[in-house]
Amino acid sequence: MKIVNVASEANPLIKSGGLGDVVYSLSRELAQAGHEVSIILPYYKVIKNKNIDAEYLGYDYLDMSWRHQYVGIFKKVIDGVNYYLIDSEQYFGRDNLYGYDDDGERFAYFALAAQLVIAKFTLTPDIVHVHDWQAGMLPTLMKVRPIEKHIPHFVLTIHNPAFKGYLYRESLGDLYNLSTDLYDTGAVRFEGMVSTLKAAIYFADKITTVSPTHRNELLSEEYSQGLCSVLEFRKDDFVGILNGVDVVEFDPEHDPKIKANYSCKAFLRGKKQDKDALLDELGIADKNAPTFGIVSRLTYQKGVDLVIQNALHLLYRGANIIILGSGEYGLEQAVQQLRDSRPDKVAVYIGYNDALAHKIYAGSDFFLMPSLFEPCGIGQIVAQRYGTLPIVRETGGLVDTVHAEIDGFSFKYYDPLSMRAVLDRALDVYYMEKDKMKEMIKNAMKLDRSWVESMNKYVELYKEIVL
Ligand code: GLC
Repeated sequence: MKIVNVASEANPLIKSGGLGDVVYSLSRELAQAGHEVSIILPYYKVIKNKNIDAEYLGYDYLDMSWRHQYVGIFKKVIDGVNYYLIDSEQYFGRDNLYGYDDDGERFAYFALAAQLVIAKFTLTPDIVHVHDWQAGMLPTLMKVRPIEKHIPHFVLTIHNPAFKGYLYRESLGDLYNLSTDLYDTGAVRFEGMVSTLKAAIYFADKITTVSPTHRNELLSEEYSQGLCSVLEFRKDDFVGILNGVDVVEFDPEHDPKIKANYSCKAFLRGKKQDKDALLDELGIADKNAPTFGIVSRLTYQKGVDLVIQNALHLLYRGANIIILGSGEYGLEQAVQQLRDSRPDKVAVYIGYNDALAHKIYAGSDFFLMPSLFEPCGIGQIVAQRYGTLPIVRETGGLVDTVHAEIDGFSFKYYDPLSMRAVLDRALDVYYMEKDKMKEMIKNAMKLDRSWVESMNKYVELYKEIVL
């Protein structure tokens, strides 16, 4: 099959969160299984700075009502996957991926450019697989206003339902050259605005999200972030497929980024060496203390506020805390304050640092992920592979991947005291039930989380609509 993924992030070129991992791993796995796979991606400044030596394919122009915009197109083949990179100094020549006032316009341009690339290079895909709101309008564009004869089938994957891609009704004409009828009939309307995510839910042939539990949440009043009313109509075409992780990148037996390698058969020594090296690097002296790691975007979604509210309690019980991530200003400030109050026990790294992330996965005893909501979550799965027991809130993919007292710990209610109870339980296991701790580490490390099974589920889904 010919599959074109359209997304705002894809490893190894660019990632700010799990989306980048998933788009890449799924594509690579599909390519290895013999499918012809492409990814269309913005050529962000951050990617250009990496000097990736992409091949220049040419340029074209596209119109967004009165705007006449340059579209440069580059290509790079990585692991058998064709990356088409959309070059625009105006929209993507910036320091960050998102967070600009004109994000709606930037990704409108991106969707239009993706349509152009598919037509210009006659990619004739069987499936166009769009991810999240950034690519959300593409099925609408290709179905309502096609620029080539070949109309593919469409799959939407919802990675983060919090972002709807809101635009004004007038933007349909102004940015997308589409009629406002689409709004008036309700096809792309959501909560009194245009929503590019809603548009994709309406026009895609199949919809997926990244875990079975999250699929059910998205159909429930309480946890769907408003989407249940829309998804209800598409229920029969809506499935949850659990993400895998990149088992080559995250492999404690061969990972070159960590001090000592280890396996589920023999992990005690290696893991201890990794812990010592990590704590040394971060200037934390107490090597025997239980160590809690966090690798995460520092956003409200990830439950960072619950961690902050429990930090003093953890410190009081002797723990070390290590936090790596960046995100909302207030949360960054709060974790830095925590570090400044106990620099001997708390280490904070604001930003993204891949090598340090690996060291935290390997060298911590516990991994904190008390998310408010979590469509799948990758950190907890990676932590399990490294024998670092995740402590999670029971939501979305965290429910599907962490089994309490077997390969991690979990709590139900999003409040500091529920979390505290389970932190205490984890500390008791660490201090007093050493055999149980070992058993749990072994269970976690043994879990099979490769992409093969998930990839096969996507292929089945693609086949259902293509055949
Ligand atoms: C988003 C979700 C996360 C999921 C990832 C990849 O970042 O918040 O739960 O793992 O997408 O699908």
